[in-house]
Amino acid sequence: MSRSLLGTALALALTVSCSQAVEHKSDVIPSPADVRLSDKSVDINKFNTVSCPALLGQEADFLATGLRQRGVETDIADNAGNKAGAIILAVDSLNLGEESYSMTVSRNRVRITGGDAAGVFYGIQTLLQQVDAGGLYTGTVNDSPRYSWRGYMLDESRHFAGKEKVRQILDIMAYYKLNRFHWHLTDAPGWRIEIKGWPLLTVVGGRGNYSDPGAPVRYYTQEEISEIVSYASSLHIEVIPEIDMPGHASAANRAYPQFNGGGTPQFKDFTFNVGKEETYSYLTSILREVASLFHSEYIHIGGDEVSFGSSAWLADSYVKSMMQREGLSTIKEAEGYFIHRMTDSLKVMGKKVLGWDDMLDFPLDNSVNCITWWRHDRPHSLKKALDGGFATVMCPRKPLYFDFVQNDSHNVGRKWDGCCPLEDVYAFPDPWFKEWEITAEEERYIMGMQANLWSELVHNEDRLDFLTFPRICALAEAAWTPAEKKDYGDFTRRMENAYRLFDSLGLYYYDDRNPEHHPEPAGPVIK
Ligand code: ACM
Repeated sequence: MSRSLLGTALALALTVSCSQAVEHKSDVIPSPADVRLSDKSVDINKFNTVSCPALLGQEADFLATGLRQRGVETDIADNAGNKAGAIILAVDSLNLGEESYSMTVSRNRVRITGGDAAGVFYGIQTLLQQVDAGGLYTGTVNDSPRYSWRGYMLDESRHFAGKEKVRQILDIMAYYKLNRFHWHLTDAPGWRIEIKGWPLLTVVGGRGNYSDPGAPVRYYTQEEISEIVSYASSLHIEVIPEIDMPGHASAANRAYPQFNGGGTPQFKDFTFNVGKEETYSYLTSILREVASLFHSEYIHIGGDEVSFGSSAWLADSYVKSMMQREGLSTIKEAEGYFIHRMTDSLKVMGKKVLGWDDMLDFPLDNSVNCITWWRHDRPHSLKKALDGGFATVMCPRKPLYFDFVQNDSHNVGRKWDGCCPLEDVYAFPDPWFKEWEITAEEERYIMGMQANLWSELVHNEDRLDFLTFPRICALAEAAWTPAEKKDYGDFTRRMENAYRLFDSLGLYYYDDRNPEHHPEPAGPVIK
């Protein structure tokens, strides 16, 4: 976590609460599944050794660094055993599930046992959050996530945030046990990932952004991508790249117009040409470079809103002859043909395929492995994904698009029949499941949920912060905490610690306790 957290943590550590007459409630976000803490606080300063097996060296380093930032000097010792003053890290995959952990704090020892290294890491985050909130209490926390996919998506095509901001977001995601960073790297305004075989994608396609088509070129080099992927991995966050196709391709088409499939006056040069054989080898070679850069088993290939531009295919001789050759009669079928060709290419690379739920609008076989369902006004599309046996990540515009405003008094951002307030993010998904009559059988295919920050109106860091925070905390709790343990009132109590963290990091967050604290950052109003 960045240095500025240190200041807050130090200040907070000095205000370690006195013993309370009642059992201590957890101060952690997301709220753990099972908490049994006494009213007896213990001094974190007496824990001066982290003891662990070699396979947890990275987690031990993370803990020791975190404690040092909070003013606690701690050595790391391999399997130093059970001596007083030890924080003992261990893995027990026989008795604990993936990402699960158990933390026991006694007067002289802390023991964190995870079902795997990620579980240990989450136990460490619970320990650090408890320290940041004022102190440790003796007792036990047994915890495991509700969903395995707990994600945040950042669109860096419309506006480029840059790697320092991405690292900060990853730090904060990890602190709140979010584990998937979906990176939307290509779209109409700009192409943001270096592809060595096709250099113009960044040199030409990386120029401009949503606010200014002439803005200087911004993109990530492959070295920077690898650096971020490794950094995220050290935080147990998987980075999933999205290379959007066959729509949202205008930036790529500026660079290599020979693969342009056309668009409409409103969405110029929006599609790739799905009729040309060369398009398939071009995109396959791009995806091959992308696949080699990311550890994730998934690559997201978009597939959304193709109809914004695909009517142009009807007039394209290459597309027309491909459709005739393949016996396709509609442009939707041509879209389906394209998606299946690209998923075949990704399979050969050993990758799984993710796509937006628009892909369900044509007959889709299970070569697409996972669907991100975003069209909140089409719950039948969610049902179709689940009934079709697709692993599904829920990110419905309402309430999980963070480019929607979070208070009705805000003007910059989307508001469709209301906004996406903190409470709705927190409440998702159970009341919605009830309304849509999602069955237990269907629920088995839900991998998790994520929030998406589209960046048309995110032209500076204040706007990114204002839209992301504090909603990211509600997202984290909704994705982690068992439905029956969620309690919005208690969440707002624990949010006081989050606001202190945000202040110490200098984030320009929306403060619903005091809206004057950070007035809404200006920007154009869109609907
Ligand atoms: C999307 O919002 N077009 C996925």
